[in-house]
Amino acid sequence: MNTEFSEQLNKLAGNITQSHLRKLFTDDPARAEKFRLSLGGLMFDYSKHLITAEVMRLLVQLAEKSGVKEHTQAMFRGDKINFTEDRAVLHTALRGSTSPSADGKPVAPDITSVLSRMAEFTDKIRTGKMTGSTGKPINTIVNIGIGGSDLGVEMVYEALRFYAHPELTVRFVSNIDPAHISETLKGLNPEQTLFIICSKTFTTQETLSNAKAAQAFLKSRIGSAYNSARHFAAVSAAPEKAAAFGISPELVFPMWDWVGGRYSICSAVGLAQADMESNGKSCAEGKTVNWQTGPVIWGEPGTNGQHSFFQLLHQGTKLIPADFIGFIRPLAPTDDMHDILTAHFFAQQEVLAFGKTAEELRRENEPEALIPYKVMPGNRPSGCLFFDELTPKSLGMLIALYEHKIFVQGVIWKLNSFDQWGVELGKKKAGHILSEIKSGKT
Ligand code: F6P
Repeated sequence: MNTEFSEQLNKLAGNITQSHLRKLFTDDPARAEKFRLSLGGLMFDYSKHLITAEVMRLLVQLAEKSGVKEHTQAMFRGDKINFTEDRAVLHTALRGSTSPSADGKPVAPDITSVLSRMAEFTDKIRTGKMTGSTGKPINTIVNIGIGGSDLGVEMVYEALRFYAHPELTVRFVSNIDPAHISETLKGLNPEQTLFIICSKTFTTQETLSNAKAAQAFLKSRIGSAYNSARHFAAVSAAPEKAAAFGISPELVFPMWDWVGGRYSICSAVGLAQADMESNGKSCAEGKTVNWQTGPVIWGEPGTNGQHSFFQLLHQGTKLIPADFIGFIRPLAPTDDMHDILTAHFFAQQEVLAFGKTAEELRRENEPEALIPYKVMPGNRPSGCLFFDELTPKSLGMLIALYEHKIFVQGVIWKLNSFDQWGVELGKKKAGHILSEIKSGKT
């Protein structure tokens, strides 16, 4: 990281944490308007972050000095910025926001062709024309994949369920724990079930084991009429491996070497794990770094979080910044449920920022002995992202926004955000231990 700026920013951070968001809002009544952006239906309020105009100025300079613009241009051009794996990083091309070349070949024609094949295939399913081995229409889809080949797809499905086909059942299997697939298959009619094997490499142990279990389920339940071509499709950058598994070539949808698994949501694959797998590194330009490189991220929909882990955010001894993502209009008709949700949405942000002082508690006649327990320190930073409505577009904006945040942080921290050597070592180790288990040594 650029030391000139980090020293200045660290000093300012010290000053702000000793001040208080209450004071910053009182000193500047226009603060909420100053630290707010609007773009295409999104309003981003970052006034409850521990920042001042001076901090913002330095952060922008830090981004400029770190070469965020130049790195972005290199990514968009198709340069091999994932240098430890000698790969381009072009998930942005999947959104149509750029049209670069990879290894000298324009990528847009391939993307357009896969998108139109996907549209044809999904239309066939939605209109009941895709039938299983016994001629009954497919009405259930099970996605088998893990990591980026599961989490992103499931997140989009859960977020946009309102728009889903009412007669299609969609399920997800990822874990190698056999309970996951056996519980998922319970109650499904094999004759009407299609499995999508989603794996960039088509070598991932969990995915292939679950795919084999799915095959066994279909064979045993459908019997002699079973025809695997009617029950399997694949999304993969290794179509020959998918074909070797028995998936018919017209149902293999390619993805490309230049899409990282955790950035594949806009390809035929379909955020959740993207940040920690991207920036969870400690080597910058060949040297071990001495700065934090990325947060631990978790979250919950609706008010679930405040009935579980928010207590730590409010009064814990660790400062944890939070993002709140909300929508003005509900999708489903409600009486006052959306208003209640919105009230909680803003209440949590206010409590985190402004807390509750001993003075305020005394004015409410709180017994003196309880005051130390009920004082809420506040000054806990949060950002608020607010959309008019949850639509595929607003979800796409959120995904692009968070992906770009990860990229910018990676550039500033001088990391390669697109490899994952820690994960790879774990896989190798598991391979050795598995051979030992099988040979009876363990
Ligand atoms: O182990 C990490 C990882 O490579 C992720 O980046 C990826 O999304 C996941 O495994 C699954 O990989 P694949 O799509 O090749 O099965």
